[in-house]
Amino acid sequence: MLTGKRIVLVISGGIACYKSLDLIRRLRERGARVRAVMTAGSQKFITPLAVGALTADKVYTELFDREAEQDVGHIRLARDTDLIIVAPATANLMAKMAHGIADDLATAVLLATDRPVLVAPAMNPKMWANPATLRNVETLKRDGRHFVGPNRGEMAESGEAGLGRMSEPLEIVAAAGALLRSGSQAEAAKPLAGRRIVITSGPTHEPIDPVRYIANRSSGKQGHAIAAAAAAAGAEVTLVAGPVNLPDPQGVTVVHVETAREMLAAVKTALPADVAVMAAAVADWRVASEGGQKIKKDGSGKPPSLEFVENPDILATVGHDEALRPKLLVGFAAETQNVLENAQGKLTRKRADWIVANDVSATTGIMGGDANTVRIVSASGIEDWPSMDKQEVAVRLVQRIADHLKRL
Ligand code: CTP
Repeated sequence: MLTGKRIVLVISGGIACYKSLDLIRRLRERGARVRAVMTAGSQKFITPLAVGALTADKVYTELFDREAEQDVGHIRLARDTDLIIVAPATANLMAKMAHGIADDLATAVLLATDRPVLVAPAMNPKMWANPATLRNVETLKRDGRHFVGPNRGEMAESGEAGLGRMSEPLEIVAAAGALLRSGSQAEAAKPLAGRRIVITSGPTHEPIDPVRYIANRSSGKQGHAIAAAAAAAGAEVTLVAGPVNLPDPQGVTVVHVETAREMLAAVKTALPADVAVMAAAVADWRVASEGGQKIKKDGSGKPPSLEFVENPDILATVGHDEALRPKLLVGFAAETQNVLENAQGKLTRKRADWIVANDVSATTGIMGGDANTVRIVSASGIEDWPSMDKQEVAVRLVQRIADHLKRL
């Protein structure tokens, strides 16, 4: 059950260290690769020589060891692993973990890691029952650290008994297995893990002069919801956002732009990607001669005339550029009439794989609103989705994207 799993075992200094040697054997028997990090305290109880003989690997002891840092370094030790087990975890080590102290290699690895951590405490029952220790355990649990034990029983020190014995090696192995299994289930809930996705959202603002601009009613709600849903599905997301009144979605790299030309440049920089979703309502035209000065009334009563030039079409540019084009290119079609016909036209003209078409007539309330009624138009047909929340549209679209990528 641990075949091929990489485990970092942090051994801190308590008498229960002798059980860590057996723990290494048990983990390796089940196919895990174990790298050990030892505190100075643990080396008073067992030697790096014994630990290294059992891990069949280098034993890591020093934070400022040039050779070890060049070899893997404490950051890679902290990250290039599936799980970190701290066994035994002394009261002192847990106190440091709870407070973010990193004054040796073991604590630096524990502070630097973004991997699951399983803590197997071992200490005298009085130390375990001390309010300071209990507070630290609470903090560590809140921080998402997992615990196995301690057990009740005889202490190694003669005449002491109570809660504080380290869990047996096989109990720790079982807890590690369960943790890794639940981790892989969580991974399954992230169907876009390892995928890069670029999303455009919101309107663009096209300046007329330094104080005026042309805009549209797009709120960015749909595009931002797609970015959030893609990030929640594990994708690495770059959101190129026009001016909107929305917070940046969590876990997403957001590039803020104003104009269509800036949006195109940002999209080109963000590509290549596995998927691009162009949800922005890009202004089709900009003013030909954006003035450096504010346009003034000239007293004649005649309004100024504005000349327009066409903006670059971001979706079409990406669709027609083999080097930029992602595996899956999704466009939107905001229509007020002939929704399907127009969407199909955009699909071929812009070389998109799918067009998410919606009717944005004023009466639908879609532009700027919270709900959306869409149809997915692709070469293989048309799919009608019921009216739903923009968040739900986003989640469903992301799921459809993930399913499609799996089949490619
Ligand atoms: N789009 C784009 N760049 C533009 C215009 C549109 O990338 N300059 C993208 C939109 O993000 C959307 C799709 O093209 O994914 C269709 O946008 P839409 O405004 O509906 O279409 P238009 O190209 O403006 O076509 P029309 O004027 O016929 O409605």
